[in-house]
Amino acid sequence: MCGIVGAVSSRNIVPILVQGLQRLEYRGYDSCGVAVHAASLNGASGPKGGLQRARSTSRVSELMDQVQADHIEGGTGIAHTRWATHGAPAVHNAHPHFSHGTGAGAGVYTGDAPLKPGRVALVHNGIIENHDELRAALQAKGYEFLSQTDTEVIAHLVDSLYDGDLFEAVKAAVRQLHGAYAIAVFHKDEPQRVIGARAGSPLILGVGQGETFLASDAMALAGVTNQIVYLEEGDVVDIQLGKYWVVDRAHQAVSREVKTVNAHSGAAELGPYRHYMQKEIFEQPRAIADTLEGVEGITPELFGDGAYSTFKAIDNVLILACGTSYYSGCVAKYWIEAIAKLPCQVEIASEYRYRESVPNPKTLVVTITQSGETADTLAALRHAQGLGMTHTLTICNVATSAMVRECQHAYVTRAGAEIGVASTKAFTTQLAGLFLLTLALAQTQGRLSDEEEAAHIKAMRHLPAALQAVLALEPQIIAWSQEFASKENALFLGRGTHYPIALEGALKLKEITYIHAEAYAAGELKHGPLALVTSAMPVVTVAPNDQLLEKLKSNMQEVRARGGVLYVLADGDTKIENSEGVNVIRMPEHYGVLSPILHVVPLQLLSYHTACARGTDVDKPRNLAKSVTVE
Ligand code: M6R
Repeated sequence: MCGIVGAVSSRNIVPILVQGLQRLEYRGYDSCGVAVHAASLNGASGPKGGLQRARSTSRVSELMDQVQADHIEGGTGIAHTRWATHGAPAVHNAHPHFSHGTGAGAGVYTGDAPLKPGRVALVHNGIIENHDELRAALQAKGYEFLSQTDTEVIAHLVDSLYDGDLFEAVKAAVRQLHGAYAIAVFHKDEPQRVIGARAGSPLILGVGQGETFLASDAMALAGVTNQIVYLEEGDVVDIQLGKYWVVDRAHQAVSREVKTVNAHSGAAELGPYRHYMQKEIFEQPRAIADTLEGVEGITPELFGDGAYSTFKAIDNVLILACGTSYYSGCVAKYWIEAIAKLPCQVEIASEYRYRESVPNPKTLVVTITQSGETADTLAALRHAQGLGMTHTLTICNVATSAMVRECQHAYVTRAGAEIGVASTKAFTTQLAGLFLLTLALAQTQGRLSDEEEAAHIKAMRHLPAALQAVLALEPQIIAWSQEFASKENALFLGRGTHYPIALEGALKLKEITYIHAEAYAAGELKHGPLALVTSAMPVVTVAPNDQLLEKLKSNMQEVRARGGVLYVLADGDTKIENSEGVNVIRMPEHYGVLSPILHVVPLQLLSYHTACARGTDVDKPRNLAKSVTVE
């Protein structure tokens, strides 16, 4: 989703801004831009009264070409990748936005007259909910709007409130904003100053040697500085050459801790792989091993100090998440109810946050999120907290994220940076973390014997090797993908813990191949979707050798009887054989309760290779963003 980079330095900052955007490209964007204060370097005066800008609806690399061709240079600047919400992906909607109009000293913009940039340049992540009211008020003051964005409203608002001190103008402006924002803004009259502010969208501060940075993600500053300040909700920050000031939501001066963060600049290397998604699928044995590193036995303290008292105090679990993370929660529900014997509900975060529910203070609220910044999941957590549910825990892949900061307990998965929009290694490592949580809850409930604990730990330790064996099936999956490439529909079936795996398989296929795919609990087939089954409908079936195998075999017969073609991922010992209309890939022997972690991998590979065969943009599928930081 949108990305921000900003800087105040005494060197030309444009290459750093553009490289920062390149590091954020994986999040998904449809336009990009950069603006600098041309008078911020050695007192040079830029051709446009200090503000210079380049914007593009192409890739960041094209933006760099434009910047070089236009000789855009400056020591103070802001840059942005935009994922369209208000207004189409178009150059005039791309950030940075400048203030324009007759209001408060900005240049006068009169229809066809050449554009006279105003005084304020601004980038924004998030959504301003009261932009219509603010726009009307600003138009009444003479401001001209050249875009359909909510962002341009903030640029004009800051301009209208400016009285010689940009920090004060931004503080006054954010008081009027409803919604979510992270912004970075500079002013024509203050060449070596950028002001940032955040509420509901992440913004970090980077402290360099005599230079200071802003970014929406520490990864944007990898290789530039590892000294990072995570700004808190409501913070406003003033960055200048080698110094900065932060005020909190009450606009009181505050000191925020500077953390040393290794932001995985190396994670952006593709190595021998064609796409990040492929790399990340193949990293899963390592990611699971890292996630389980140091886990010698089960103890609530794996989830942080005080987790034992929390686990003792609760009598049910509520899981909140979105997308793929939601599906890992759906698997965990089966585990938590079967093994820990605790009632467990799983809710889509965007639904839970707005529905009237019955709060129970004895609930353990578990959020699952790769990024730790998903707006709906954060809002759902805060909603639950607001309802008096104070026992909170997150399974999250980013230790420094808002989610980890806001939850009482956390298990930080060690998948490493996930660049591909389609989540893969984050999912399997979430499952590993959720299984540990299941066992820790079971132990606290007195439902885990020493023998069971030892057997589960042994199986978890063997997971990396078991995953390698599944990855070795890739050539057979490539053969299937050649057949899927020409399809426009597919059904996925599973039962029990493998029903969410079927859901995840269908999501992966839609996301990156644009093939319409639906997943059903196999027992549901005859209650409706069977009507779709013809010889043109591939039916992917997840077939572990568990207690539901015979039921699943009956469901497969129902498909074959209607001419449907089955693609079965069958455990070695299921006795499901290749036959007419039945294509089988033989998985290793059944892996017990951890089987979902293995069965999802061929589905990831099937989507990946089908997408390659269809020639889609695997890592940046259309319309999607990596971190969904807006509602
Ligand atoms: O960062 P999160 O885990 O909170 O993200 C949630 C979803 O947006 C994410 O899983 C999305 O569904 C993936 N693109 C699926 O591959």
